[in-house]
Amino acid sequence: MGLKILSTGRALPKTIISNHRLSAMMDTSDEWIVARTGIRCRHIVSGDEDLTSLAVTAAKAAIEKAALDVSDIDMIICATMSGDYVFPSLACCVAEALGALRPAFDINAACSGFVYALEVANQFISTGRAKNILIVCAEMMSRFCDWTDRSTCVLFGDGAAACVVGEGDAIKYLNLTADGHTRLLYQEAGSGNSPFCPKKEPGFLKMSGQDVFKFAVSKIGQEIDRALRTLGLSPDDIDLYILHQANKRIIDSARARLNQPEEKFPVNIDRYGNTSEATIPILLDELLEAGRIKKGTKLLISAFGAGMTTGTCVMIWE
Ligand code: ACO
Repeated sequence: MGLKILSTGRALPKTIISNHRLSAMMDTSDEWIVARTGIRCRHIVSGDEDLTSLAVTAAKAAIEKAALDVSDIDMIICATMSGDYVFPSLACCVAEALGALRPAFDINAACSGFVYALEVANQFISTGRAKNILIVCAEMMSRFCDWTDRSTCVLFGDGAAACVVGEGDAIKYLNLTADGHTRLLYQEAGSGNSPFCPKKEPGFLKMSGQDVFKFAVSKIGQEIDRALRTLGLSPDDIDLYILHQANKRIIDSARARLNQPEEKFPVNIDRYGNTSEATIPILLDELLEAGRIKKGTKLLISAFGAGMTTGTCVMIWE
């Protein structure tokens, strides 16, 4: 016995920043951002919002939709890189806010975090160590961005999504990778004020955009092929390809390669930008709400992120 997703929920910050707004702040334009990425606007944490409150809102929505009580949750796993505290984990902050005093921990697989979290949850549920697990993917990329660097800050957004997973047999394939390319996309932690090592300030997000682009196009292609081959499926057999929303051109390239219609590759990057590991569960929540995912829908989920990591999963919705 493995797992199935019982329910999902999402939460986005209230402030929406359009490309036009960014072009008033820096040397960029709506035309450039839309043509290169597909992004039109993004939600950004502002005022007294924080990541914990977004994560908790998404978590409460998912628990309510599962018709479960907080006491039914056996474990909380957060996929994040940007919790409000370095420690305790975001998962512990969510547990405190929900009053769900259960084992809680964060995992960091960058933008592949949702699929990594699914696999971790799968292991606990398969072995009977947990029955219902709350997964929360929450990211505040606006913390990491250098808002004076137009080549990166226009790409990202903040957001959270959660799902409750329980016993089931939805996952037909799941593969995780990490290839050791740690300098394509990174952020240095800095050295604090330790007197024992050279002073290193915490940095901002750094990215070799074109190398990440090439990695994503080729690796996502390979990982999708591997999933289809392993299951003996053709691209036509998949109902929906739910890909990490990093760049519409990366998604279009995967679609063209597989010769599939546009409606099988849903996108929301135009509205949210890249919210890292939250992109896929936010999209899942929207598709469920729109009735586009039903019992029997065959999904192929694939993500890539810093590391460079990937996570690919084929699921038949239960
Ligand atoms: N507005 C206007 N011009 C810009 C901007 C901007 N925001 N940013 C860069 N430019 C300029 C550059 O300075 C350059 O100008 P030049 O030709 O005068 O030197 C020109 O635009 C072209 O820049 P490139 O970097 O070559 O543009 P490219 O077509 O590669 O697009 C992009 C850049 C969008 C970042 C692309 O490389 C990309 O999407 N890469 C993948 C990024 C990605 O997927 N990140 C997510 C990683 S994983 C995760 O999700 C965390």
